[in-house]
Amino acid sequence: MGPGPADADAIVPGPRRATPLRVGALVVDPPVLLAPMAEVTDLAFRTICEEFGAGLTVTEFLSAHALCAGAEKTRRKLRPSAGGRPYGVQLFGREAAPLVRAALLAADSGAALVDLNMGCPARKVVWDGKGQPDATCRGSGAALMLDPDLAVRLVAAVRAALPAAIPLSVKLRSGWDERRKNAPELAPRLGAAGAALVTVHGRTRAQGFGGEVDLETIRQVRAAVPAGIPVCGNGDVVDVESFERMRTATGCDAVMIGRGAIGNPWVFAAIRAHLRGQPPPAPPDRREKLRVLMRHLALCREHEPANVVWEARKLVCRYARGEPGAARLRARAMSMEAIEALTDLACEFFAGNPKPRAD
Ligand SMILES: Cc1cc2nc3c(=O)[nH]c(=O)nc-3n(C[C@H](O)[C@H](O)[C@H](O)COP(=O)(O)O)c2cc1C
Repeated sequence: MGPGPADADAIVPGPRRATPLRVGALVVDPPVLLAPMAEVTDLAFRTICEEFGAGLTVTEFLSAHALCAGAEKTRRKLRPSAGGRPYGVQLFGREAAPLVRAALLAADSGAALVDLNMGCPARKVVWDGKGQPDATCRGSGAALMLDPDLAVRLVAAVRAALPAAIPLSVKLRSGWDERRKNAPELAPRLGAAGAALVTVHGRTRAQGFGGEVDLETIRQVRAAVPAGIPVCGNGDVVDVESFERMRTATGCDAVMIGRGAIGNPWVFAAIRAHLRGQPPPAPPDRREKLRVLMRHLALCREHEPANVVWEARKLVCRYARGEPGAARLRARAMSMEAIEALTDLACEFFAGNPKPRAD
């Protein structure tokens, strides 16, 4: 006898195994990406997230103008992670010529994917200083969603210039505001212009980072874009449960994680194990957090020695988030000026020792 309604549990499939994400020639496995985040997704953090199982990491957004002007600080951000795995570079701008030149610089630096930012809500990015901010925004980031023809032209121009082996992607919000949620109309046009992957953060520009993520608009984008162009869902994924909610509600082909990975690269290992049908890894205890914090600091020392104290203050606080006493630790860390004092503080906090043990 076939299974009836009473047997429903017996026929519910296990976790939907994720197929690797294919973006042109690039294979992203598992299909779980680290989101671009300014002041967060630097070389060191991208390296750590790759080690924990992120399928692809993306640099923070880099100004096309700054790259073209040769700004050294911005150019350094084009570097691959220490592990040398494929990575994406995100660019922002609203003029084709600098975006094209910056995309070629990203390709020369080794980027396996170039992403155009069409979602940044920051006033200094969306407003070009003319007209009224918020009413006649003519800047870049999310303002491009107000100007779909320009957004399409930029994608076409960058696509035409990039080597064929390097896919171009776009990262959108659901729209500008509740009245103008145009991602489902814009995404297929960007796909037709040459975008090989569309990522949607399910919030409008007006929402910033508040309110609930709108999974329905991401679902509409998935339905509107041809099947050959993958859609990546983004917003509020912090663990296996929210990952599955994003996939099930939207049908997206990949998931991107931002804030949920800050101070918590273990989220990638948990999702990877889930997708492979393996038992969940043990959540990190304080010793494990200290181990990864120290690895993260070592990468900062090696690759960004000029900023290491500033980075160490932030990192100690990020890895301590959620632990009892984190607020007091933060206050102390922020006043410290020496890397040795910061590492001692971290060792004391996480392991109860002033120095890390050799094991
Ligand atoms: C500190 C911070 C910096 C960010 N910088 C960028 C950026 O450079 N480019 C971008 O497309 N989005 C940026 N975002 C947005 C994230 O990529 C992501 O879309 C958003 O945080 C929602 O995903 P989440 O809920 O997983 O964090 C940033 C978000 C945060 C919190």
